[in-house]
Amino acid sequence: MRIAMIGSGYVGLVSGACFADFGHEVVCVDLDAGKIAALERGEIPIFEPGLDRLVADNASAGRLRFTTDLAPAVAQADVVFIAVGTPSRRGDGHADLSYVHAAAAAIAGAVEGFTVVVTKSTVPVGTGDDVERIIAETNPRADVAVVSNPEFLREGAAIEDFKRPDRIVVGLEDERARDVMTEVYRPLYLNQAPLLFTGRRTAELIKYAGNAFLAMKITFINEIADLCEKTGANVQDVARGIGLDKRIGPKFLNAGPGYGGSCFPKDTLALVKTGQDYDSPLRLVETTVAVNDQRKRAMGRRVVAALGGSVRGRTVAILGLTFKPNTDDMREAPSIAIIQALRDAGARVRAYDPEGMSAARALMEGVDYADNAYAAAEGADCLVLVTEWNQFRSLDLKRLRAAMATPLFIDLRNVYRRREVEAAGFTYHSIGRPGDGEAHIPESAAAE
Ligand code: UDX
Repeated sequence: MRIAMIGSGYVGLVSGACFADFGHEVVCVDLDAGKIAALERGEIPIFEPGLDRLVADNASAGRLRFTTDLAPAVAQADVVFIAVGTPSRRGDGHADLSYVHAAAAAIAGAVEGFTVVVTKSTVPVGTGDDVERIIAETNPRADVAVVSNPEFLREGAAIEDFKRPDRIVVGLEDERARDVMTEVYRPLYLNQAPLLFTGRRTAELIKYAGNAFLAMKITFINEIADLCEKTGANVQDVARGIGLDKRIGPKFLNAGPGYGGSCFPKDTLALVKTGQDYDSPLRLVETTVAVNDQRKRAMGRRVVAALGGSVRGRTVAILGLTFKPNTDDMREAPSIAIIQALRDAGARVRAYDPEGMSAARALMEGVDYADNAYAAAEGADCLVLVTEWNQFRSLDLKRLRAAMATPLFIDLRNVYRRREVEAAGFTYHSIGRPGDGEAHIPESAAAE
Protein backbone atom coordinates (compact mmCIF):
# COMPACT_ATOMS: atom_id res chain seq x y z
CA MET A 1 0.00 0.00 0.00
CA ARG A 2 1.11 3.55 -0.65
CA ILE A 3 0.37 5.70 2.39
CA ALA A 4 0.53 9.46 2.87
CA MET A 5 0.63 10.61 6.52
CA ILE A 6 -0.46 14.23 6.87
CA GLY A 7 1.14 15.59 10.04
CA SER A 8 4.49 14.33 11.29
CA GLY A 9 3.96 14.98 14.98
CA TYR A 10 3.78 12.31 17.62
CA VAL A 11 0.95 10.20 16.19
CA GLY A 12 1.88 10.72 12.53
CA LEU A 13 5.52 9.87 13.00
CA VAL A 14 4.95 6.77 15.13
CA SER A 15 2.17 5.50 12.84
CA GLY A 16 4.10 6.32 9.65
CA ALA A 17 7.24 4.53 10.87
CA CYS A 18 5.23 1.48 12.01
CA PHE A 19 3.30 1.26 8.72
CA ALA A 20 6.61 1.44 6.84
CA ASP A 21 7.89 -1.33 9.07
CA PHE A 22 4.89 -3.43 7.97
CA GLY A 23 6.26 -3.10 4.43
CA HIS A 24 4.04 -0.26 3.17
CA GLU A 25 5.47 2.68 1.24
CA VAL A 26 4.99 5.70 3.49
CA VAL A 27 5.47 9.43 2.94
CA CYS A 28 5.20 11.63 6.05
CA VAL A 29 4.11 15.18 5.22
CA ASP A 30 4.42 18.27 7.40
CA LEU A 31 4.15 22.02 6.82
CA ASP A 32 7.11 22.61 9.13
CA ALA A 33 10.13 22.61 6.78
CA GLY A 34 12.55 22.61 9.72
CA LYS A 35 10.98 19.47 11.13
CA ILE A 36 11.05 17.68 7.76
CA ALA A 37 14.69 18.65 7.17
CA ALA A 38 15.60 17.33 10.63
CA LEU A 39 13.74 14.06 10.00
CA GLU A 40 15.57 13.67 6.70
CA ARG A 41 18.85 14.00 8.63
CA GLY A 42 17.60 11.24 10.94
CA GLU A 43 16.86 13.57 13.88
CA ILE A 44 13.68 12.70 15.79
CA PRO A 45 11.92 15.75 17.25
CA ILE A 46 10.30 13.81 20.13
CA PHE A 47 11.52 11.40 22.77
CA GLU A 48 9.96 7.98 22.21
CA PRO A 49 11.90 4.80 22.99
CA GLY A 50 12.80 2.86 19.83
CA LEU A 51 11.47 5.45 17.37
CA ASP A 52 14.86 6.71 16.15
CA ARG A 53 15.91 3.18 15.19
CA LEU A 54 12.57 2.40 13.49
CA VAL A 55 12.71 5.62 11.47
CA ALA A 56 16.35 5.10 10.49
CA ASP A 57 15.86 1.46 9.43
CA ASN A 58 12.79 2.14 7.32
CA ALA A 59 14.16 5.34 5.81
CA SER A 60 17.33 3.55 4.72
CA ALA A 61 15.23 0.70 3.29
CA GLY A 62 13.45 3.33 1.15
CA ARG A 63 10.00 2.67 2.64
CA LEU A 64 9.78 5.88 4.68
CA ARG A 65 10.20 9.36 3.22
CA PHE A 66 9.57 12.91 4.47
CA THR A 67 8.33 15.91 2.54
CA THR A 68 6.65 19.30 2.84
CA ASP A 69 5.03 18.77 -0.54
CA LEU A 70 1.55 17.42 0.17
CA ALA A 71 0.12 17.25 -3.37
CA PRO A 72 2.35 14.57 -4.97
CA ALA A 73 2.33 12.48 -1.78
CA VAL A 74 -1.50 12.49 -1.76
CA ALA A 75 -1.82 11.99 -5.53
CA GLN A 76 0.22 8.79 -5.35
CA ALA A 77 -1.38 7.40 -2.19
CA ASP A 78 -3.95 4.62 -1.82
CA VAL A 79 -4.60 5.75 1.74
CA VAL A 80 -4.17 9.23 3.25
CA PHE A 81 -4.06 9.52 7.03
CA ILE A 82 -4.87 12.81 8.74
CA ALA A 83 -2.70 12.91 11.89
CA VAL A 84 -2.61 16.63 12.65
CA GLY A 85 -3.10 18.18 16.08
CA THR A 86 -6.51 18.75 17.69
CA PRO A 87 -5.65 20.95 20.68
CA SER A 88 -8.23 22.29 23.12
CA ARG A 89 -9.69 25.51 21.72
CA ARG A 90 -8.87 28.47 23.93
CA GLY A 91 -11.82 29.59 25.99
CA ASP A 92 -14.38 26.82 25.49
CA GLY A 93 -12.51 23.47 25.73
CA HIS A 94 -13.88 22.22 22.40
CA ALA A 95 -11.38 20.41 20.18
CA ASP A 96 -9.85 22.86 17.67
CA LEU A 97 -10.45 21.25 14.29
CA SER A 98 -8.91 23.94 12.10
CA TYR A 99 -5.86 21.79 11.24
CA VAL A 100 -8.08 18.81 10.36
CA HIS A 101 -10.29 20.97 8.15
CA ALA A 102 -7.28 22.55 6.42
CA ALA A 103 -5.81 19.08 5.79
CA ALA A 104 -9.12 17.89 4.29
CA ALA A 105 -9.20 20.84 1.87
CA ALA A 106 -5.56 20.30 0.87
CA ILE A 107 -6.17 16.57 0.31
CA ALA A 108 -9.26 17.32 -1.81
CA GLY A 109 -7.22 19.42 -4.18
CA ALA A 110 -4.61 16.70 -4.68
CA VAL A 111 -6.31 13.26 -4.75
CA GLU A 112 -6.19 11.18 -7.91
CA GLY A 113 -8.28 8.03 -8.32
CA PHE A 114 -10.13 6.27 -5.52
CA THR A 115 -8.48 7.15 -2.20
CA VAL A 116 -9.29 6.22 1.38
CA VAL A 117 -8.97 9.25 3.67
CA VAL A 118 -8.54 8.29 7.32
CA THR A 119 -8.79 10.51 10.38
CA LYS A 120 -6.29 9.27 12.96
CA SER A 121 -6.31 12.47 14.97
CA THR A 122 -8.67 12.33 17.95
CA VAL A 123 -11.74 14.13 16.67
CA PRO A 124 -15.25 14.71 18.05
CA VAL A 125 -18.20 12.74 16.74
CA GLY A 126 -19.24 14.00 13.35
CA THR A 127 -15.79 15.19 12.20
CA GLY A 128 -15.67 12.46 9.53
CA ASP A 129 -18.86 14.00 8.09
CA ASP A 130 -17.12 17.43 8.05
CA VAL A 131 -14.08 15.98 6.28
CA GLU A 132 -16.32 14.31 3.68
CA ARG A 133 -18.25 17.56 3.10
CA ILE A 134 -15.10 19.71 2.84
CA ILE A 135 -13.56 17.32 0.31
CA ALA A 136 -16.78 17.23 -1.77
CA GLU A 137 -17.11 21.03 -1.69
CA THR A 138 -13.45 21.64 -2.54
CA ASN A 139 -13.28 19.07 -5.32
CA PRO A 140 -16.61 17.58 -6.46
CA ARG A 141 -14.73 15.06 -8.65
CA ALA A 142 -12.73 13.61 -5.75
CA ASP A 143 -13.48 9.90 -5.27
CA VAL A 144 -12.84 9.24 -1.59
CA ALA A 145 -14.06 7.08 1.26
CA VAL A 146 -13.66 8.84 4.62
CA VAL A 147 -12.81 6.52 7.50
CA SER A 148 -12.25 7.00 11.24
CA ASN A 149 -9.36 4.98 12.69
CA PRO A 150 -8.50 6.34 16.15
CA GLU A 151 -5.12 5.67 17.75
CA PHE A 152 -4.70 4.25 21.24
CA LEU A 153 -0.98 4.87 21.67
CA ARG A 154 0.51 5.57 25.07
CA GLU A 155 3.50 7.87 25.06
CA GLY A 156 6.63 5.97 26.00
CA ALA A 157 5.12 2.67 24.79
CA ALA A 158 3.77 3.86 21.45
CA ILE A 159 5.59 1.43 19.16
CA GLU A 160 4.66 -1.54 21.30
CA ASP A 161 1.04 -0.30 21.45
CA PHE A 162 0.96 0.14 17.67
CA LYS A 163 2.40 -3.29 16.92
CA ARG A 164 0.53 -5.19 19.64
CA PRO A 165 -2.80 -3.39 19.98
CA ASP A 166 -5.71 -4.70 22.05
CA ARG A 167 -7.88 -3.84 19.04
CA ILE A 168 -7.95 -1.80 15.86
CA VAL A 169 -11.10 0.28 15.40
CA VAL A 170 -12.16 1.21 11.87
CA GLY A 171 -15.31 3.26 11.36
CA LEU A 172 -16.58 3.47 7.80
CA GLU A 173 -19.65 4.36 5.78
CA ASP A 174 -18.33 3.35 2.33
CA GLU A 175 -17.80 -0.41 2.02
CA ARG A 176 -14.97 0.07 -0.51
CA ALA A 177 -12.74 1.12 2.41
CA ARG A 178 -13.07 -2.22 4.24
CA ASP A 179 -10.62 -4.22 2.10
CA VAL A 180 -8.16 -1.32 1.92
CA MET A 181 -8.07 -0.93 5.71
CA THR A 182 -7.77 -4.70 6.19
CA GLU A 183 -4.74 -4.63 3.88
CA VAL A 184 -3.21 -1.66 5.74
CA TYR A 185 -3.37 -3.59 9.02
CA ARG A 186 -2.74 -7.06 7.56
CA PRO A 187 0.38 -7.85 9.66
CA LEU A 188 -1.52 -7.09 12.88
CA TYR A 189 -4.64 -8.82 11.70
CA LEU A 190 -2.59 -11.93 10.98
CA ASN A 191 -1.27 -11.59 14.54
CA GLN A 192 -4.84 -11.97 15.81
CA ALA A 193 -5.39 -8.34 16.81
CA PRO A 194 -9.16 -7.85 16.59
CA LEU A 195 -10.11 -5.54 13.74
CA LEU A 196 -13.39 -3.97 14.78
CA PHE A 197 -15.45 -2.45 11.96
CA THR A 198 -18.13 0.02 13.05
CA GLY A 199 -19.97 3.04 11.72
CA ARG A 200 -17.82 6.16 11.45
CA ARG A 201 -19.50 8.11 14.26
CA THR A 202 -19.25 5.06 16.51
CA ALA A 203 -15.49 4.80 15.94
CA GLU A 204 -15.08 8.47 16.77
CA LEU A 205 -16.98 8.01 20.01
CA ILE A 206 -15.08 4.82 20.96
CA LYS A 207 -11.89 6.84 21.25
CA TYR A 208 -13.39 9.46 23.56
CA ALA A 209 -15.40 6.95 25.59
CA GLY A 210 -12.27 4.80 26.06
CA ASN A 211 -10.10 7.67 27.28
CA ALA A 212 -12.86 9.05 29.51
CA PHE A 213 -13.39 5.64 31.09
CA LEU A 214 -9.67 5.30 31.87
CA ALA A 215 -9.57 8.84 33.29
CA MET A 216 -12.57 7.97 35.49
CA LYS A 217 -10.87 4.77 36.65
CA ILE A 218 -7.76 6.71 37.75
CA THR A 219 -9.85 9.41 39.40
CA PHE A 220 -11.93 6.81 41.20
CA ILE A 221 -8.90 5.13 42.75
CA ASN A 222 -7.47 8.54 43.66
CA GLU A 223 -10.60 9.34 45.66
CA ILE A 224 -10.51 5.89 47.23
CA ALA A 225 -6.88 6.66 48.20
CA ASP A 226 -8.05 9.78 50.03
CA LEU A 227 -10.62 7.68 51.87
CA CYS A 228 -7.93 5.10 52.71
CA GLU A 229 -5.91 7.85 54.37
CA LYS A 230 -8.87 8.79 56.54
CA THR A 231 -9.85 5.24 57.42
CA GLY A 232 -6.46 3.52 57.78
CA ALA A 233 -6.92 1.27 54.73
CA ASN A 234 -4.32 0.64 52.03
CA VAL A 235 -5.15 1.74 48.50
CA GLN A 236 -2.75 -0.66 46.80
CA ASP A 237 -4.44 -3.57 48.54
CA VAL A 238 -7.87 -2.15 47.62
CA ALA A 239 -6.76 -1.81 43.98
CA ARG A 240 -5.52 -5.37 43.95
CA GLY A 241 -8.63 -6.61 45.69
CA ILE A 242 -10.98 -5.03 43.18
CA GLY A 243 -8.69 -5.46 40.16
CA LEU A 244 -8.67 -9.24 40.45
CA ASP A 245 -12.36 -9.11 39.58
CA LYS A 246 -12.12 -9.64 35.81
CA ARG A 247 -15.02 -7.26 35.26
CA ILE A 248 -12.89 -4.45 36.74
CA GLY A 249 -9.37 -5.48 35.72
CA PRO A 250 -6.08 -4.61 37.44
CA LYS A 251 -4.80 -1.78 35.22
CA PHE A 252 -5.14 1.98 35.65
CA LEU A 253 -5.74 1.63 39.35
CA ASN A 254 -2.51 3.26 40.51
CA ALA A 255 -3.35 6.16 42.80
CA GLY A 256 -1.20 9.24 42.27
CA PRO A 257 -1.15 13.01 41.88
CA GLY A 258 -3.83 13.05 39.12
CA TYR A 259 -3.65 12.28 35.42
CA GLY A 260 -1.96 14.61 32.95
CA GLY A 261 -0.65 14.37 29.41
CA SER A 262 -1.69 15.33 25.95
CA CYS A 263 -4.81 13.12 25.79
CA PHE A 264 -6.83 12.56 28.94
CA PRO A 265 -7.23 16.22 30.00
CA LYS A 266 -8.05 17.42 26.47
CA ASP A 267 -10.24 14.49 25.45
CA THR A 268 -12.33 14.38 28.64
CA LEU A 269 -13.00 18.10 28.25
CA ALA A 270 -13.94 17.73 24.59
CA LEU A 271 -16.31 14.83 25.41
CA VAL A 272 -17.98 16.94 28.10
CA LYS A 273 -18.52 19.68 25.51
CA THR A 274 -19.95 17.22 22.99
CA GLY A 275 -22.37 15.94 25.63
CA GLN A 276 -23.50 19.48 26.38
CA ASP A 277 -23.87 20.30 22.67
CA TYR A 278 -26.14 17.29 22.14
CA ASP A 279 -28.07 17.97 25.36
CA SER A 280 -26.85 14.63 26.69
CA PRO A 281 -24.65 15.62 29.66
CA LEU A 282 -21.91 13.26 30.80
CA ARG A 283 -22.00 14.00 34.49
CA LEU A 284 -19.48 11.35 35.53
CA VAL A 285 -16.94 12.74 33.07
CA GLU A 286 -17.67 16.34 34.11
CA THR A 287 -16.97 15.40 37.73
CA THR A 288 -13.83 13.50 36.75
CA VAL A 289 -12.44 16.62 35.04
CA ALA A 290 -13.18 18.80 38.07
CA VAL A 291 -11.86 16.29 40.65
CA ASN A 292 -8.63 15.73 38.72
CA ASP A 293 -7.98 19.48 38.37
CA GLN A 294 -8.50 19.99 42.08
CA ARG A 295 -6.29 17.03 42.91
CA LYS A 296 -3.23 18.39 41.13
CA ARG A 297 -3.48 21.62 43.09
CA ALA A 298 -4.19 19.76 46.34
CA MET A 299 -0.86 17.90 46.01
CA GLY A 300 1.00 21.19 46.54
CA ARG A 301 -1.02 21.86 49.69
CA ARG A 302 -0.21 18.34 50.88
CA VAL A 303 3.51 19.16 50.73
CA VAL A 304 2.96 22.43 52.59
CA ALA A 305 1.02 20.57 55.30
CA ALA A 306 3.75 17.92 55.61
CA LEU A 307 6.24 20.74 56.22
CA GLY A 308 4.17 21.99 59.12
CA GLY A 309 1.95 24.48 57.30
CA SER A 310 4.57 26.89 55.98
CA VAL A 311 7.17 26.52 53.26
CA ARG A 312 8.31 30.14 53.15
CA GLY A 313 12.07 30.17 52.65
CA ARG A 314 12.29 26.38 52.60
CA THR A 315 13.64 24.28 49.75
CA VAL A 316 11.57 21.54 48.13
CA ALA A 317 13.24 19.04 45.80
CA ILE A 318 11.02 17.70 43.02
CA LEU A 319 11.95 14.40 41.35
CA GLY A 320 10.18 13.94 38.02
CA LEU A 321 8.53 16.70 36.01
CA THR A 322 7.01 15.01 32.95
CA PHE A 323 3.39 13.80 33.19
CA LYS A 324 4.65 10.21 33.25
CA PRO A 325 7.96 8.36 32.74
CA ASN A 326 9.64 7.62 29.39
CA THR A 327 8.54 10.82 27.74
CA ASP A 328 9.78 14.42 27.58
CA ASP A 329 6.18 15.67 27.52
CA MET A 330 5.22 18.24 30.13
CA ARG A 331 1.67 18.84 28.92
CA GLU A 332 -0.78 19.10 31.85
CA ALA A 333 1.83 17.46 34.09
CA PRO A 334 0.84 17.42 37.79
CA SER A 335 4.33 18.79 38.57
CA ILE A 336 3.32 22.16 37.08
CA ALA A 337 0.41 22.71 39.49
CA ILE A 338 2.44 21.38 42.43
CA ILE A 339 5.43 23.64 41.74
CA GLN A 340 3.13 26.62 41.18
CA ALA A 341 1.40 26.04 44.54
CA LEU A 342 4.74 25.65 46.34
CA ARG A 343 6.23 28.77 44.81
CA ASP A 344 3.07 30.77 45.56
CA ALA A 345 3.47 29.67 49.18
CA GLY A 346 7.03 31.01 49.23
CA ALA A 347 9.06 27.82 48.75
CA ARG A 348 12.27 27.54 46.80
CA VAL A 349 11.93 24.69 44.29
CA ARG A 350 14.77 22.60 42.93
CA ALA A 351 13.83 20.03 40.31
CA TYR A 352 15.29 17.20 38.27
CA ASP A 353 13.83 15.08 35.46
CA PRO A 354 15.70 12.65 33.18
CA GLU A 355 14.13 13.90 29.92
CA GLY A 356 11.78 16.78 30.69
CA MET A 357 14.23 19.51 31.71
CA SER A 358 14.29 21.54 28.53
CA ALA A 359 10.49 21.54 28.18
CA ALA A 360 10.21 22.43 31.88
CA ARG A 361 12.73 25.26 31.60
CA ALA A 362 10.70 26.79 28.77
CA LEU A 363 7.52 26.47 30.83
CA MET A 364 8.56 27.37 34.37
CA GLU A 365 10.86 30.17 35.38
CA GLY A 366 12.14 30.68 38.89
CA VAL A 367 12.83 26.97 39.45
CA ASP A 368 16.39 25.74 40.07
CA TYR A 369 17.12 22.82 37.79
CA ALA A 370 19.55 20.21 39.12
CA ASP A 371 21.68 17.69 37.21
CA ASN A 372 20.51 14.62 39.11
CA ALA A 373 18.35 13.47 42.01
CA TYR A 374 21.09 13.90 44.61
CA ALA A 375 21.97 17.41 43.47
CA ALA A 376 18.26 18.30 43.68
CA ALA A 377 18.14 17.00 47.27
CA GLU A 378 21.21 18.96 48.45
CA GLY A 379 20.19 21.01 51.49
CA ALA A 380 16.45 20.47 50.77
CA ASP A 381 13.77 20.35 53.46
CA CYS A 382 11.56 17.94 51.57
CA LEU A 383 11.81 15.57 48.64
CA VAL A 384 8.71 15.00 46.47
CA LEU A 385 8.68 12.10 44.03
CA VAL A 386 6.21 13.23 41.33
CA THR A 387 6.99 11.02 38.30
CA GLU A 388 7.94 7.37 38.67
CA TRP A 389 10.97 7.19 36.36
CA ASN A 390 12.85 3.91 36.78
CA GLN A 391 15.94 5.71 38.06
CA PHE A 392 13.86 7.02 40.99
CA ARG A 393 12.82 3.50 41.96
CA SER A 394 16.24 2.57 43.25
CA LEU A 395 17.54 5.75 44.84
CA ASP A 396 20.32 5.52 47.41
CA LEU A 397 18.10 6.62 50.31
CA LYS A 398 20.95 6.99 52.80
CA ARG A 399 22.84 9.25 50.39
CA LEU A 400 19.72 11.35 49.85
CA ARG A 401 19.13 11.59 53.59
CA ALA A 402 22.69 12.74 54.15
CA ALA A 403 22.29 15.44 51.47
CA MET A 404 19.09 16.91 52.88
CA ALA A 405 18.53 19.49 55.62
CA THR A 406 15.24 17.95 56.76
CA PRO A 407 14.50 14.25 56.19
CA LEU A 408 11.03 14.41 54.67
CA PHE A 409 10.10 12.15 51.72
CA ILE A 410 6.75 12.53 49.94
CA ASP A 411 6.15 9.73 47.46
CA LEU A 412 3.21 10.71 45.22
CA ARG A 413 3.54 7.49 43.14
CA ASN A 414 3.78 4.90 45.93
CA VAL A 415 7.12 3.69 44.60
CA TYR A 416 8.67 2.93 47.99
CA ARG A 417 7.75 0.99 51.09
CA ARG A 418 7.46 2.90 54.30
CA ARG A 419 9.83 0.55 56.14
CA GLU A 420 12.76 1.07 53.78
CA VAL A 421 12.39 4.86 53.66
CA GLU A 422 11.97 5.18 57.41
CA ALA A 423 14.94 2.88 57.94
CA ALA A 424 17.05 5.42 56.04
CA GLY A 425 15.99 8.05 58.57
CA PHE A 426 13.17 9.79 56.69
CA THR A 427 9.66 10.75 57.64
CA TYR A 428 7.61 9.21 54.83
CA HIS A 429 4.29 10.17 53.24
CA SER A 430 2.67 8.33 50.33
CA ILE A 431 -0.75 8.17 48.65
CA GLY A 432 -3.52 6.21 50.33
CA ARG A 433 -1.22 4.08 52.47
CA PRO A 434 -1.39 5.48 56.00
CA GLY A 435 0.49 3.97 58.91
CA ASP A 436 1.70 0.44 58.89
CA GLY A 437 -1.08 -0.82 56.62
CA GLU A 438 1.71 -0.98 54.08
CA ALA A 439 3.24 -3.94 55.84
CA HIS A 440 0.55 -6.09 54.23
CA ILE A 441 1.37 -5.28 50.60
CA PRO A 442 2.54 -8.42 48.81
CA GLU A 443 5.52 -7.95 46.43
CA SER A 444 3.41 -8.36 43.29
CA ALA A 445 0.92 -5.66 44.28
CA ALA A 446 3.67 -3.21 45.17
CA ALA A 447 5.26 -3.71 41.77
CA GLU A 448 1.97 -3.30 39.82
C1 UDX B 1 -3.38 7.85 26.98
C2 UDX B 1 -4.09 6.53 26.65
O1 UDX B 1 -3.61 5.49 27.51
C3 UDX B 1 -3.91 6.17 25.20
O2 UDX B 1 -4.66 5.00 24.88
C4 UDX B 1 -4.40 7.34 24.34
O3 UDX B 1 -4.23 7.07 22.98
C5 UDX B 1 -3.66 8.62 24.72
O4 UDX B 1 -3.83 8.87 26.10
P1 UDX B 1 -0.90 8.63 27.56
O5 UDX B 1 -1.50 9.99 27.80
O6 UDX B 1 0.33 8.54 26.75
O7 UDX B 1 -1.98 7.67 26.86
O8 UDX B 1 -0.54 8.02 29.00
P2 UDX B 1 -1.12 6.96 30.03
O9 UDX B 1 -0.09 5.93 30.29
O10 UDX B 1 -2.45 6.48 29.66
O11 UDX B 1 -1.22 7.87 31.35
C6 UDX B 1 -2.01 9.04 31.41
C7 UDX B 1 -1.95 9.70 32.76
O12 UDX B 1 -2.63 8.91 33.73
C8 UDX B 1 -0.54 9.91 33.31
O13 UDX B 1 -0.47 11.18 33.93
C9 UDX B 1 -0.38 8.80 34.32
O14 UDX B 1 0.54 9.10 35.34
C10 UDX B 1 -1.79 8.70 34.86
N1 UDX B 1 -2.10 7.37 35.43
C11 UDX B 1 -2.20 6.28 34.62
C12 UDX B 1 -2.32 7.25 36.80
O15 UDX B 1 -2.25 8.23 37.55
N2 UDX B 1 -2.64 6.02 37.30
C13 UDX B 1 -2.75 4.90 36.53
O16 UDX B 1 -3.06 3.83 37.06
C14 UDX B 1 -2.52 5.03 35.14
